[in-house]
Amino acid sequence: MPQSNTVNRRIILNSRPVGAPTAENFRSGEIVVPVPSAGQVLLRTLYLSLDPYMRGRMSDAPSYAAPVAIGAVMVGSTISRVEASRHPAYQPGDVVLGYSGWQDYAISDGTGLTMLDARMTHPSLALGVLGMPGFTAYMGLLDIGQPKAGETVVVAAASGAVGSVVGQVAKLKGCRAVGIAGGVDKCRFVVNELGFDACIDRRSADLPRQLAVACPKGIDVYFESVGGAVFDAVLPLLNVSARVPLCGLIAHYNDTSLPQGPDRLGLLTRTLLTKRIKMQGFIIFDDYGHRYGEFYQQMSAWLAEGRIKYREDIVDGLENAPDAFIGLLEGKNFGKLVVRIAQD
Ligand SMILES: NC(=O)c1ccc[n+]([C@@H]2O[C@H](COP(=O)([O-])OP(=O)(O)OC[C@H]3O[C@@H](n4cnc5c(N)ncnc54)[C@H](OP(=O)(O)O)[C@@H]3O)[C@@H](O)[C@H]2O)c1
Repeated sequence: MPQSNTVNRRIILNSRPVGAPTAENFRSGEIVVPVPSAGQVLLRTLYLSLDPYMRGRMSDAPSYAAPVAIGAVMVGSTISRVEASRHPAYQPGDVVLGYSGWQDYAISDGTGLTMLDARMTHPSLALGVLGMPGFTAYMGLLDIGQPKAGETVVVAAASGAVGSVVGQVAKLKGCRAVGIAGGVDKCRFVVNELGFDACIDRRSADLPRQLAVACPKGIDVYFESVGGAVFDAVLPLLNVSARVPLCGLIAHYNDTSLPQGPDRLGLLTRTLLTKRIKMQGFIIFDDYGHRYGEFYQQMSAWLAEGRIKYREDIVDGLENAPDAFIGLLEGKNFGKLVVRIAQD
């Protein structure tokens, strides 16, 4: 059923996944569209962002943010249109960035809403290159990675929302940008369209050797968002004084136990010590929220000048959000994954 004026379709967390999420972890529900009270607005979702962090919200393991309760609507950033307003700052027709979650409609008192230009031709960019993922790439690379011209920057999930921006900003700073991505098509896009110097398929049997060939002077900045076999290939190539912004570990989000095999903690800590490597985790809005304006101004200018390119993977229909999200954790998306809920 498409979006309607009377029914609020919702995707609800049905159960907590053990390992990779499945369709059974979600269920759909319908309620009547709520009516705003004084000081509130009714938001109609146009676009829903699907992001890897949602896997963490499906789990009740300790984390930096509270889990979604069983029976609650899945959380997520959204672009919405104001349908009705009893809030002095909003008019029907306004377009806002908010956090309505996986549903057609939501009530808001304005907290956390950001007004977008209603004439914006491409509002979904506020969920991607101009939004949280682009901001993550920008701050993680520039503030923690501190790339210098001539250095080598490596990033995995290189065709994705964060990785694609990391490599392009590295190029703008005069670095050699090497991507790692899942498959030939993604790698071709990363080099030919995004302008990276090289890209290696993460599923190649000889990933460590290919990475070494692509990084003849070693690695000065490794933007970590994957972990697993990719990190194993990167570790021996890190240079003295390398920086490792620790952004994500998507290869491990479905883990139910520690990986098999020898304990390599000693190898990691010895490498960090002897090479004086700085590895720093960050949670973008907790650590850098106050710098969003600076990022937005710079990224808007780069986009307008055609110096940063982006790719979106748009899936139509709220009902397809669970499958699309499951695919994200398997590398099936190609670019920033967004669900179009209604035509804008
Ligand atoms: N710290 C923060 O504040 C923050 C903010 C935003 C995002 N992040 C993190 O940044 C990372 C990228 O997020 P994104 O939004 O840009 O996602 P994305 O790259 O658009 O999509 C996820 C990609 O991860 C890769 N992937 C999936 N499963 C994998 C596995 N088992 N092993 C290796 N790679 C796998 C796939 O790319 P390939 O097929 O190309 O390998 C997939 O397309 C995630 O780890 C996310 O949690 C952190």
